[in-house]
Amino acid sequence: MQFDRNALEALESRYRAALINSVSGYKPANLIGTANAAGATNLAVMSSVVHLGSHPPLLAMVVRPGGDERHTLANLLASGEYSINHINQSIYRQAHQTAARYPADQSEFDATGLSCQWLDGFSAPLVAEAEVKMAMQLRQHMPLEINGTHLVIGEIVTLLLPDAALRSDGSLNLPAADSVALSGLDEYLCGESLARLSYAKPGQPLQELASDE
Ligand SMILES: Cc1cc2nc3c(=O)[nH]c(=O)nc-3n(C[C@H](O)[C@H](O)[C@H](O)COP(=O)(O)O)c2cc1C
Repeated sequence: MQFDRNALEALESRYRAALINSVSGYKPANLIGTANAAGATNLAVMSSVVHLGSHPPLLAMVVRPGGDERHTLANLLASGEYSINHINQSIYRQAHQTAARYPADQSEFDATGLSCQWLDGFSAPLVAEAEVKMAMQLRQHMPLEINGTHLVIGEIVTLLLPDAALRSDGSLNLPAADSVALSGLDEYLCGESLARLSYAKPGQPLQELASDE
């Protein structure tokens, strides 16, 4: 199968969306927690979180256009704070349900049965049932001219994770944390490690590292 630009343009729109949403590969599965100025909470599944840099520790995400109907975007722009919570095998169905278009006064926490976890001095809720979770401070917001989406860049100010998922070199064992991945807009997958490999250098054979190293 091969699609050129004209063939992609001619596709039925939902078919094209399903295809193009899958071709970037396995994506992280996260829940974004926010609250408005009155303290009303909001939770939304997002697959677009991406690593931007480690020092300072920055993560970016892409939020679709939609003005005030985009509660996550409105809340995080107003408060400057949000949380990123890994979806795990115990909560992926509830996480998926947060994509439904609930009115602003209906919290997705209440609608799905997920619980808020509050950190002192931080206005956005984290997800109590998530194993890996981060309190984020908004650092930069860029509306993207090309398609009206919003690039949101935040700094990790608090990172919470299970001890058993933290390897001695600082990397995270995602299967041990039970974190799942996303394909497209509807498929949840479990991760399985193939190998951890040594730092690549020209002309030097790769070594396999112990998976818990
Ligand atoms: C699997 C999946 C991944 C999604 N990823 C994103 C995303 O990366 N960015 C985005 O803006 N919306 C994404 N959405 C859509 C939002 O979850 C959905 O629009 C939600 O209603 C937004 O909630 P809000 O209006 O409370 O912010 C995704 C939906 C699903 C089902």
